[in-house]
Amino acid sequence: MESSLYQDSRDVFLDTVNTKDYIQLDRVSIIYQSLLDSIKKPLKMILLYGKPGTGKSMFLSKLHDTLKETQQIYLYNNPILDESEFFKTIAQDLYGIEYSGELNFTQFMKVVENKELYKAIIPLILLDEAQLYSPALMEKIRLLSDTRKVKFVIALHKTEKEDLIAKEHFQTRIWQSIKLENASIVELQTYVQKKLLKANCFDTANMFSKKSIKLIHKLTDGNYRDTNKLIYTIFDIYAHYQENSPYKIKSTREVANKFIEMSAIHTGLINA
Ligand SMILES: Nc1ncnc2c1ncn2[C@@H]1O[C@H](COP(=O)(O)OP(=O)(O)O)[C@@H](O)[C@H]1O
Ligand SMILES: [Mg+2]
Repeated sequence: MESSLYQDSRDVFLDTVNTKDYIQLDRVSIIYQSLLDSIKKPLKMILLYGKPGTGKSMFLSKLHDTLKETQQIYLYNNPILDESEFFKTIAQDLYGIEYSGELNFTQFMKVVENKELYKAIIPLILLDEAQLYSPALMEKIRLLSDTRKVKFVIALHKTEKEDLIAKEHFQTRIWQSIKLENASIVELQTYVQKKLLKANCFDTANMFSKKSIKLIHKLTDGNYRDTNKLIYTIFDIYAHYQENSPYKIKSTREVANKFIEMSAIHTGLINA
């Protein structure tokens, strides 16, 4: 095998969010479809939660990409923590209104109340990393969604603290919560193989049999981000051997356990 194949395979697992790399996974697709259905319902807020690395940002990007042709939709990857900046950005994006000075919540609500919905389609705002917003701003977002002139999909990491935010701010509201989870062993195999096949790395896709996936799953618990890091490192090691001592990997078809373990130590998934 050429070392460039290992490098190409390695780069497939860079930790980036790009919808052209989106992989259809059964469970995620079902959740995705139910989210599309929810968006059509008169729900005001939809909460998307799950541990870091379970695919929340990818999910939001995919949603944004799919819907942007047919409706007004905005994705804010990075929280806009300053309140005035937040409402100014939304005023600009939703209504094309530019404010030079401050724009407080009360002023912004006046603007919203006077706006008619175009063809009764409610604009959708996707907020990623929402655990970073202050409770005060979250409360205003909630009041804003009460006007039914804007709908929110809010993605946040689930920790005990965020559980509390979720409880306090959303429990009494008409909202739906959707949870993203780590992959099962079967899903992880699909994920890894599809990712490689999509990049035309056919030979390396065959290196991940059920046996090696089981070990990888044991180390990463099926977390997509941890799996990306681990497999990136595995291929980095392969590329290195291929260049320096190719005889050591010549007979390998299946990914060697020792390389998986070395990578796990390197990425901090196991302590040496
Ligand atoms: N359905 C998917 N298809 C392809 N890659 C995915 C998918 N879900 C997650 N990933 C990848 O896994 C990594 C972690 O996903 P991300 O959306 O950043 O997680 P989170 O936002 O929950 O922390 C990213 O590199 C992303 O590209
Ligand atoms: Mg994210």
